[in-house]
Amino acid sequence: MKIDKLPLGSFIAGGWRTSGDGFAIQDPYSGEIIANVSRCFQSDYEDAIVSANRGLKVLDALAPKGRSEALLAWADALEANSEDLARLITKEQGKPIKESRGEVAYGIDYIRWFSGEAIRHYGQIVPLDNHHQHRVEHRPVGIVGAITPWNFPFAMFARKLSAAFAAGCSVILKPSEETPLTAIAVTQWLLESGFPADAIQLCITDDAESFGEWVTREPAIAKLTFTGSTHVGRWLNERAAGQFKRMSLELGGDAPFLVFSDADIDAAVAGLVGSKLRNAGQTCISVNRIIVQQSVSEEFVSKLISELAIKSSGSGSDETTEVGPLINRKAVLRIEQHVNHAIASGAELLFQEERTASNNHYPITVLQLPPNNVGQHEALLKSVGEWFGPVFMIQTFETEAESFVMANQSQHGLAAYAFTNDYQRIERIRSTIQTGMIGINETAISNAAVPFGGIKCSGFGREGSSEGLKDYSYTQYTNVRV
Ligand code: SIN
Repeated sequence: MKIDKLPLGSFIAGGWRTSGDGFAIQDPYSGEIIANVSRCFQSDYEDAIVSANRGLKVLDALAPKGRSEALLAWADALEANSEDLARLITKEQGKPIKESRGEVAYGIDYIRWFSGEAIRHYGQIVPLDNHHQHRVEHRPVGIVGAITPWNFPFAMFARKLSAAFAAGCSVILKPSEETPLTAIAVTQWLLESGFPADAIQLCITDDAESFGEWVTREPAIAKLTFTGSTHVGRWLNERAAGQFKRMSLELGGDAPFLVFSDADIDAAVAGLVGSKLRNAGQTCISVNRIIVQQSVSEEFVSKLISELAIKSSGSGSDETTEVGPLINRKAVLRIEQHVNHAIASGAELLFQEERTASNNHYPITVLQLPPNNVGQHEALLKSVGEWFGPVFMIQTFETEAESFVMANQSQHGLAAYAFTNDYQRIERIRSTIQTGMIGINETAISNAAVPFGGIKCSGFGREGSSEGLKDYSYTQYTNVRV
């Protein structure tokens, strides 16, 4: 796909708006400017509401069957263009092309999943007595505001939109200012597949704050769904609370990764590397704190370093690249600062990859904290927060109880992982670890059929699965006297 053939602006009220001031999009690996996109304004938002209201009516007229078929047609159009889409993701986001192909397949899975769910969003007739019909039905919440992140510019777009459309909601979506091109291309394929134009309003802007202020204040927007940082999620939530908007917030994670002495150590290393290097560590469910039982820590660390030493970092467009650049220079500097701080606070640097030519490359790094009593590293871990990069920070523990305290020592609660072959311990992990998702002897936990989401400062609401559809619906009860 030629980037200069894309409509480089917003899609509002059934048309592309590509004139006016713009902002630059960079290739994260080379730093080259690959496009300038026009930004939208307040008057565009007002037009978007009028069109989105029409979209609600069109989606309602389609009924679940029509919406299901329209979603399938969109999935087919994406599948037919999947290689172009994957290349575009790599170009503007930086991830290795193999991962972009994986992201395309993953996002299409959500669209197909919600195409199926659209026609299975069953209500109930409650058989209470013979004189009334107690009907319980699911209705679309209305217009949805959606803010999608740069780390999965297609999959998060597909995950939110397909659920909203399946439920019958029209959407006003702002993609990250780092990765608007993917959203533009995917919207174009949505329209080409015959999807009703009023159902989608795509707002391109680098003024995220103004969009956030508007979307939380605008009374016609019934629900807001956001994937991004806890900091921004809190700000949106506080602003939207006064309007009683429905919210789904998929925020930061701080995933603990527990390795017990009875684990298959090779499998644990492979699982860790897979999770941690996916998208160069820029994933909400990426392992953040590696917590290994003392008796196997030497073996574990040595195998981990051997595995990392053969990874190849470079340009995402190169078929052999396994780790791409970070999204921008700011991300590199933030991690650099945290690594220096960790070392100054007593962490040992066990391994660091050589730097590549890219300004935005952060080398794979392994740090180990000295063995310590539970709680002594808390301040350091808190100040680092989410690494969001290829940094492996290892801590050790002696007893299971200690490991559980360490795992729960976080304000976040998105994902957790544990490697063990003790089935009773697995039950204890499930009942003790406080996160929305848990992987046992597995780190590739996401897929369209299961509920994705967290607790505590990782937010609320679920995406994917049948729960994902409920997040875009409200329950209506009608009592009909018969
Ligand atoms: C995310 O990092 O926000 C999404 C990751 C996933 O869906 O697996």
